[in-house]
Amino acid sequence: MAEEMVRFGLFGAGSIAIYRHAPEIASHPCAEIVGIYDPIKKRADWLAENYGGKVVRSEKALLAMENVDALVVATPNAHHARLTIAALESGRHVLCEKPMATSLKDAKAMIAAARKAGRKLMIGHNQRLMPPHVKAKELLKQGAIGDVLTFRTSFGHGGPEMWSQDKGAHTWFFKKEEAYVGTMGDLGVHKADLIRWLLDTEVEEVGAFVDTLAKCNEKGEPITVDDNAVCILRMANGVVGQLTASWTYSAAEDNITILYGSKGQMILGRNPDFPVEVMLSNGEAAMYKVGAVATNEVQVPSGIPDAFIDCILDDVEPEIGGREGLRALAIVVACLKSAETRKIVKVAY
Ligand SMILES: NC(=O)c1ccc[n+]([C@@H]2O[C@H](COP(=O)([O-])OP(=O)(O)OC[C@H]3O[C@@H](n4cnc5c(N)ncnc54)[C@H](O)[C@@H]3O)[C@@H](O)[C@H]2O)c1
Repeated sequence: MAEEMVRFGLFGAGSIAIYRHAPEIASHPCAEIVGIYDPIKKRADWLAENYGGKVVRSEKALLAMENVDALVVATPNAHHARLTIAALESGRHVLCEKPMATSLKDAKAMIAAARKAGRKLMIGHNQRLMPPHVKAKELLKQGAIGDVLTFRTSFGHGGPEMWSQDKGAHTWFFKKEEAYVGTMGDLGVHKADLIRWLLDTEVEEVGAFVDTLAKCNEKGEPITVDDNAVCILRMANGVVGQLTASWTYSAAEDNITILYGSKGQMILGRNPDFPVEVMLSNGEAAMYKVGAVATNEVQVPSGIPDAFIDCILDDVEPEIGGREGLRALAIVVACLKSAETRKIVKVAY
């Protein structure tokens, strides 16, 4: 064991820190929060009162704390690369939220910084750790539905203005300079990561419509990022499928993935009681009660901090490392390019 206790600093005391990172770190027997920075100090104060740690007044002050082993970057997307690289260069391990960066160049610089510093870099792609998705991967490996031929994966809800601590239409999620990308980067990137991991193959080509259909900012103008994305994907092994992301599914969240195989189908996240449903063409069926797919309404532990802490304590590379974050981001970038050029685009990283 390299270290006994992992002492964390948090960049950002917003919703993901409140609902997932802080409670999961604070309840871990080998981890504690020692420092928090958020430019809106009362958010950092609230987190410190509830989960511990000292509130500091600047990014620099958090980076300068001597007793910090690892930093969580849970800020608007535009700050991910800059803060991650600064943290790695200061000798800290980093858990950075998704999308990992706002350009492929920045994502590669983050990976290089981790390598150079000899520190761990993990990205918050938590869909892979959700029990129904873990079960699905196991069943796919066993050939439960034969060879997957096609799929549909979807992630949509009513929008981040209900989730973000910037409540309302002024949220940073709606501003291109802070977010870079809208629902495709907020939700689509999760399913991009999930599908390449589930099917164990890369997304090779995409075609996409990535549009702003309904959301308006605080001035009543259309937001400067997308609120709906409808994409088609072709995988390296020939599988073809659809990925949709939306911030305008206002009545109910859709976090469902359907895999269609040569022997039958598997539906993930549709039935809350049995989040994995398998139906075969010979009439057989199996239902699995295996935890839940987390939703904005139903928060379940992400498992991300636990996995990251294990990697630090055991000195192993995170499975959801920088390379994985880069590949998911590259799918988003390709979809944006396809939407812009109205052409099928090869995914490049
Ligand atoms: N893995 C997931 O399932 C998941 C879910 C939601 C959000 N996220 C990601 O987490 C990140 C944060 O999103 P959120 O939902 O917590 O948003 P949020 O709006 O609730 O909170 C963001 C916080 O960052 C703070 N901040 C801004 N600039 C900062 C800086 N330079 N240093 C420190 N703090 C700063 C803001 O004041 C705010 O409190 C985003 O990248 C988002 O995509 C991931």
